[in-house]
Amino acid sequence: KNNEMAVIRRGEPLSIFEIDSHTPSKISIKQLKLSLAQLEKGGYDTFMLKEIFEQPTTLRDCLRGRITGDCSRVTLSGVELNRDRFLQAERITLVACGTSWHAALIGKRLIQDFCQIPVEVEYASEFRYGNPVLNDRDIVIAISQSGETADTLAAIQLAKDKGAFVYGVCNVVGASIPRATDSGTYIHVGPEIGVASTKAFTGQVTVLTLLALAVGQLRGVIDSSTVQSVATALNAMPGTIEETLKCNDAVQKLSMFFTYAHNFIYLGRGYNYPTALEGALKLKEISYIHAEGYPAAEMKHGPIALIDQEMPSVIIAPSDSLYDKIISNVQQVKSRGGAVVAIVSKGNTAMKDIANFCIEIPDVPECLTPLVASIPLQLLAYYIAVNKGKNVDQPRNLAKSVTVE
Ligand code: G6P
Repeated sequence: KNNEMAVIRRGEPLSIFEIDSHTPSKISIKQLKLSLAQLEKGGYDTFMLKEIFEQPTTLRDCLRGRITGDCSRVTLSGVELNRDRFLQAERITLVACGTSWHAALIGKRLIQDFCQIPVEVEYASEFRYGNPVLNDRDIVIAISQSGETADTLAAIQLAKDKGAFVYGVCNVVGASIPRATDSGTYIHVGPEIGVASTKAFTGQVTVLTLLALAVGQLRGVIDSSTVQSVATALNAMPGTIEETLKCNDAVQKLSMFFTYAHNFIYLGRGYNYPTALEGALKLKEISYIHAEGYPAAEMKHGPIALIDQEMPSVIIAPSDSLYDKIISNVQQVKSRGGAVVAIVSKGNTAMKDIANFCIEIPDVPECLTPLVASIPLQLLAYYIAVNKGKNVDQPRNLAKSVTVE
């Protein structure tokens, strides 16, 4: 805890005491369920590649015990134990930083679709100084891989002071954020060592999907056929991600064409606008190429001016309700000489005639497309960075856990 110090000496019991008063503190020791193998590269060149390929396993761990065998119900103990709070909630605010903030944007859509509660998403750093109006009918969900991000912790404290119920979605068990929140759900994806977040992102999106389904059921606003179809597809997600990872060789090959690009634009709509933001962030973080993520329909309001032969676009275009709209963005980029990498659903042959490169992802319900579409984007950023000889696990100027403001 704050203001405590631990002294560890070989062969002697651990002692923890308060720094100022030297009073010994009560020690509660919990053994972490962690194996050494989780902290090694397991035959991969980098932690990041290992973590990308681990996602079928990490999602299996994340889902374990949370969907009933017949896929008719989703149970999260954090929701069950706080039924009244979730039943009475008038608004949910998601706060986070970095990649976790992108997961929050997807969470907003999921909660709106399945729970019919108004949702806001805030950068924790803006929320804490934004004088937010909150009361005891508010739920604030803090999302953090490390559970130690200073801005997110401060946002939690502020929300608690204003009477909101604060729920955590974290990875690191026993970290400061899970301790500071009223309740929460762990994503259980194991230690993430690569600075650029991959498996934690898909774990966060998975937990937010489970949460939206569980709260929707609790409030009686989601029909059972929707629960059944989404939960069934979510249950099958580990296998679906395994299938998606087969794009690895194709992505590695196409990465060669873009190693020397100076700028990139990532476009997506609906559920995949945040996926576009996250894809662009991955590229920036590890390859140091400037990349912007944009909602595809906004391209005409500015970014289209940037498109030329030197500015490739990555367009996320699964066969969903917005596919017909996004195809016109592909045509606009092509007609200005820009190269297009399109992420499309399996069996889409039409796009092959228009885009320069097509990467296929398995067909899943629309709300789950970010989980599969983010896989080729992680790999694309990874291989471009490797082609450039960058240190993907420890990119310059970045830290895995930002514990200062
Ligand atoms: C740092 C990391 C990012 C991460 C962000 C939020 O910037 O480099 O990968 O997304 O912090 O971290 P958190 O642990 O709160 O998810």
